[in-house]
Order: sequence, then structure tokens, then C-alpha cells
Amino acid sequence: MKSAAQSQATWNPDSWREKLCGQQPRYADGEGLERAKRALSELPPLVTSFEIERLRKLLAEAQQGKRFLLQGGDCAERIADCQSEPVAQRLKILLQMSLVLTHGLRCPVVRVGRFAGQYAKPRSSATETRDVGGRKQTLPSYFGDLVNRVEFTAEAREPKPDHMLECYYHSALTLNFVRALAEGGFTDLRELDRWDLPFLTAAGLTPERRAEYQRMTQNLADGLSMVHSLGGVTSKDPNQAVVFSSHEGLHLDFEQSLSRPVPGRTGCYDLSTHFPWIGDRTRDLDGAHVEFFRGIRNPIAVKLGPTATRGEVVDLARALNPNDEAGRLTFITRLGADRVSDHLPAWIDAMKGHPVLWVCDPMHGNTSTTSSGFKTRPFEAIAQEFERTLAVHESTGSYLGGLHVEVTPADVTECIGGTAGPIESTLQTRYQTTCDPRLNYQQALELAFRLAHHVQDGR
Ligand code: PEP
Ligand code: CO
Repeated sequence: MKSAAQSQATWNPDSWREKLCGQQPRYADGEGLERAKRALSELPPLVTSFEIERLRKLLAEAQQGKRFLLQGGDCAERIADCQSEPVAQRLKILLQMSLVLTHGLRCPVVRVGRFAGQYAKPRSSATETRDVGGRKQTLPSYFGDLVNRVEFTAEAREPKPDHMLECYYHSALTLNFVRALAEGGFTDLRELDRWDLPFLTAAGLTPERRAEYQRMTQNLADGLSMVHSLGGVTSKDPNQAVVFSSHEGLHLDFEQSLSRPVPGRTGCYDLSTHFPWIGDRTRDLDGAHVEFFRGIRNPIAVKLGPTATRGEVVDLARALNPNDEAGRLTFITRLGADRVSDHLPAWIDAMKGHPVLWVCDPMHGNTSTTSSGFKTRPFEAIAQEFERTLAVHESTGSYLGGLHVEVTPADVTECIGGTAGPIESTLQTRYQTTCDPRLNYQQALELAFRLAHHVQDGR
């Protein structure tokens, strides 16, 4: 095997093309693909290296236990949701969750959205078959708005290179609005004091728990009104007002077209997002995604599911962070509540002495399909995966530094449970996701309160 230094020397922006590359669209329109790539590579970047370096520093502090990362948003972002209300609401839910966590964990929270570019989806099957007018029809699966469209027609499911440009523009519009809201004071909490917490009055919450949550909400409200009376000063920490973007770095032609050298800095930055991650399906050590991202300067996350071995975890760290740079590497574990203790202790042990940020994604390992065909996730398993992950980190002297969730501010019925959430038979009421089931607004806040409470209880 080549040493890290040797392989680093052989990296170039095209070197991934010699590797096996899963989950990429096959465009019939080859000329259109070249045109779209050229156009993207000439357009301005979506984020800057300054912002990326700022995030790297925050992630390095999170690795040391001084901060906590909250990363959340839709499973599949939709171009149709690039509207003022949905964007503002997505920001609001992230900020409210982060307030609850800051309060419970007694630690500043770094907020990263799964938005402004979360448009590409890996799929377990390349095709989808449906019954259309009594006849079976098979079409390409929906791979996210970056690639094709969700409607079940041959025209919509055909991958089109121009979708990349459309997603670029909508990412830019989203980022523009998020930045403006952040700068204009939205993140200084004035807009956030209208907490809408119907789960607090729902049946199913024990009186003790309700009183506890109500006390936490009251404390938060008091804190916010004190902030107001101090003239809107939110925090001594200017980083508290910043929101970063992230997405799965899946579509490598797209990522490469927005990756560039930056004057005055060494190396090549992926300027499509602050914080790309490699998904559980595409983290092969010899695959194209690891090859591409090992040469990119951004902080990188990798999702680790139950099939990852201890050896793979070590090799991934060696490939992606050969010099043990602080803030560079994040591992997002997504095992399923029942499998946390089977795998996580060995991974933590393997990484001892190397800087890594451990984040828990309690969503993707807890997915099941109901008898009527709805993909869902139980709230209880989601909360338990986080709590068990936290317990393993604490018992091994490690630090769990983040939570990665799929959430939407909309009142959807996709995940089962929580005190006021849907049950299996009511999932169809407002089941709207085009990919994985998301926590709705109430469930997301309830999760934040529960985790904050759990951490406080353990102290
Ligand atoms: C996702 O985050 O939507 C996803 C596909 O995750 P994973 O790679 O962990 O399966
Ligand atoms: Co998902």
C-alpha cells in the first residue's frame, strides 16, 4: 500500500475518475454535461474559504469538547421549497433546537444546515417499479433534484445536466436569504421567542416531564427577554450567530466543478458548501468519493453504518486526514439503537490519539417500512440511539460532539411517536417526504428537550 504522502502527491481534481464511482447519473446528453460543468466552473463560488476555515476552527474546538455540532435539515432538499417561508422556518427550527441544546449541554452549539445544496440522493435501487393504470412500469429512481425530478414519468426521471445549474442557483438564493436573516438579527433570537410547543400539553407526557420541560422553556424565555433588555446583544461569542451549510458530496462532476484553488491558500477547496460529507454507501476506501475528498481542503464528514469495520475506520482516517489536522475529520455514526454497543466501542478505541469529531445520526439506522408501505422511524429509537451513543462515549472517555438529524418545520406525519406524534395508522395523513422520513417541528423540539434533559440528568 502507498504511504499517505505518496498518495497525496498523486491526487488531482480528476484522479477520482479512475476509481469505481457509485451512485452517479448517466446522462444521455454528453455535450450538455460538458456545458453545465463549464458553466458551473465559471460561476462564482457558493461559499468562501474564509467561512470554511472558520468552521474548521469551530469543529476543532468541538473535537476538544468545547462545542457541540447540530446538523439538520431535509433528507432531500427540494427546489420547490426554495421560498421565503420554508427557508426561514428551516432556519428557525435549527436555531430553536440549538438553543435548547446550548441550555441543556451548557456548551455553545455550532449550527450546520442540511440545506443550500442537499439536492443529490444515493438510492439502494437504480430503478423504481410502480403500477400505472394496471400495468407495471419501471423508471430510473429519483436521485434528488440535482439529477432528475420526482414525478413518475419517463421525462421527469431522465437525468438532465441542466438540473445542476438550477440547483446551483437555488443554493445561492437559499444561502443569500439565510445569510441575510443571520446578519439582520434573525439569529439574535428576537424572532425565536414565539415557541410553539403543543407537545407540552399533549396527553402522554408524564406530569413530571411536562413540568421539567416547562421549566426549561421558561428559563429559555427568561434568557431571551434578558437578551432583549440588553439591547439585542446575544452572546459574547460571535460564532453563535453564524449558520453553515452542508450536503452529501455525492455527485462528483458537480462537486468538482465548484472545487478550486483559492488565491493565497494552498490546495483545492470545494466551494459548493462549507461541510461536505461522504455517505455510508459511497465511503469505499478505494472508491471515487474518498479519492476526491481526500484532496479537498474543507472539513469532511463520513457516515459510518453497521457494515464499517474497525480497519476501515482507521484506513478512512488515514486517507482523509493523514496529518491528523484538527477540525478536518468528522465521523457520523448511524448504527440503529440496537447496534450501537456492537460497533462503536471498537471504532472509538481505534481512533484514540487521533483528532476526530464524533457525531450521532440517530435517524438512518432506525428506518423500517410499515405493512402499508410507509418508510418510517420511531421517535423512541431515535432518542435511544443518541442516549446509547452518548453512554458509550462517556464510558470510554470519548466525547460525543454532535447530533445529525433529518427534520422539517412542516407538520408532517413521517416518523412515529413522540408525545403528540403520529401512530402507524395515521402516517398517511401528511406523509410528504420524497426520500427519508423526517421529524416534524414538534418532534424535533421534543427530541432536543429530551436530549438536553438526559444530559443534565447525567450530570
Ligand atoms: C442521508 O443522510 O440522507 C443518507 C443517505 O445517509 P447515509 O449515507 O447515512 O445512509
Ligand atoms: Co436521509
